[in-house]
Amino acid sequence: MASQEDVFKKLVAHCKEYGFVFPSSEIYDGLGAVYDYGQNGVELKNNIKKYWWDSMILLHENIVGIDAAIFMHPTTWKASGHVDAFNDPLIDNRDSKKRYRADVLIEEQLAKYDEKINKECDKAAKRFGESFDREMFCQTNARVQDYVQKRETLHSRFVAALEANNLEELKQIILDEEIVCPISGTRNWTDVRQFNLMFSTEMGSTSDGAMKVYLRPETAQGIFVNYLNVQKTGRMKIPFGIAQIGKAFRNEIVARQFIFRMREFEQMEMQFFVKPGTELQWFEHWKAFRLKWHKALGLGDHKYRYHDHDKLAHYANAATDIEFEMPFGFKEVEGIHSRTNFDLGSHEKYSGKNIKYFDPEINQSYTPFVIETSIGVDRMFLSIMSAAYCEETLEGGDSRVVLKFPAVLAPIKACVMPLVKKDGLPEKAREIMNLLKFDFKCSYDEKDSIGKRYRRQDAVGTPFCITVDHQTMEDGCVTIRHRDTMQQERVEIGKLHSIIDEQVNMKNLFKKIVE
Ligand code: GAP
Repeated sequence: MASQEDVFKKLVAHCKEYGFVFPSSEIYDGLGAVYDYGQNGVELKNNIKKYWWDSMILLHENIVGIDAAIFMHPTTWKASGHVDAFNDPLIDNRDSKKRYRADVLIEEQLAKYDEKINKECDKAAKRFGESFDREMFCQTNARVQDYVQKRETLHSRFVAALEANNLEELKQIILDEEIVCPISGTRNWTDVRQFNLMFSTEMGSTSDGAMKVYLRPETAQGIFVNYLNVQKTGRMKIPFGIAQIGKAFRNEIVARQFIFRMREFEQMEMQFFVKPGTELQWFEHWKAFRLKWHKALGLGDHKYRYHDHDKLAHYANAATDIEFEMPFGFKEVEGIHSRTNFDLGSHEKYSGKNIKYFDPEINQSYTPFVIETSIGVDRMFLSIMSAAYCEETLEGGDSRVVLKFPAVLAPIKACVMPLVKKDGLPEKAREIMNLLKFDFKCSYDEKDSIGKRYRRQDAVGTPFCITVDHQTMEDGCVTIRHRDTMQQERVEIGKLHSIIDEQVNMKNLFKKIVE
């Protein structure tokens, strides 16, 4: 069986070969951790964004959207804390000259203990069969207990070092745990130091010089600085939310794992403004709602888990991640944060403007508290790609690569194929395209054998292939072939629209989320 690493490599190659993701400016050998989306990738990405946007804007009367500029007044980033505190703790290996995030090295060490514990349990489960009691085994097995103990000690040291911003202690942990550089295999580490992740550039020119501006590292601040504009012009009453989709930029040092950690990426963020004191209730509400949104896609409930933050950001009083099982382990796809009134309060202080909300129900003004849901479009894209990618051996020894996308997100919904390029079949196929194209993204393919055409559509995840043959000209029926089961059925042309719509209409997912 192929290792997860091999599967991931194949997935990355597949993304390029089939027009999903290309390295940026590839003809100049690419640019580190920057990627372009191709003809199929952009469709998948747009469908993800639509699924998120509509689930916020259509399903909630009290959520509206905005589209703020990427450049913002530089004081924004002073107020938000990004100028002073948006740092990663870095460490270099002197032998390989490679740079790492110290916190990531330690998190990987924690994951290694988890792996060891799981391995012991899996071995024992095999030995004991059905009578195996995992909890009991973990509590009594000496080796597992030893790993648990080591993990807990490491975890508490790590959290304490992060809380205290203690860079020497982070280095000491790396030394004590005997963590080696994966490239050089040595422990020849430099000290840990902080590195600010914001990109900056210059705007305009004045006699005193140009103004230093930043490329936004999160879209959220565009929402905070517009909160009162939206509240007033939209006559919004608390609780209400503002949603936004847009690009964000971070000078990531350890840019790895394809589109998982990029320097230019896209976020879908929603800030929900609530009355002080109610924020933890709303935090639980959004935690549950967001997980439902993910699970409704049907990629497998076991692939998701919550991960509560070890270290809360200075502005947060609760925070959790929704993690997805990628080929390289469970990883954060979305963060849900209770950000208190930190951001609004700070913008009020730095701008000198009153941005309090007057609550007519209690006849009082206050600075609202905020619950934020923040998901990366690119990470969502990667999670869907990873779950969809399948290599299958077929009867007769043939094989296929198929992307089993949720039909609603598939870049192309249906491909129409005339069996041969003559006898009026192409014209009939074009008629069918014209029937469907106003509602669904369709493609047309008349080249090569039907088998080859099916493989091409499997490889880009098209849920339906529709074949027009000679009999179609007599009975007005076509063959529709389903991607996952490869089953074929004969249906009337007039029924195609409803068959496809039933599978690809987002309405069905939204009903699942709100039920
Ligand atoms: N406004 C809150 C915020 O930005 P975050 O946890 O730093 O929080 C939110 O980012 C989400 O943005 C993450 O869960 C992830 O999906 C995505 N994200 C963050 N950095 C990223 C990067 N370098 N590349 C791709 N996606 C990233």
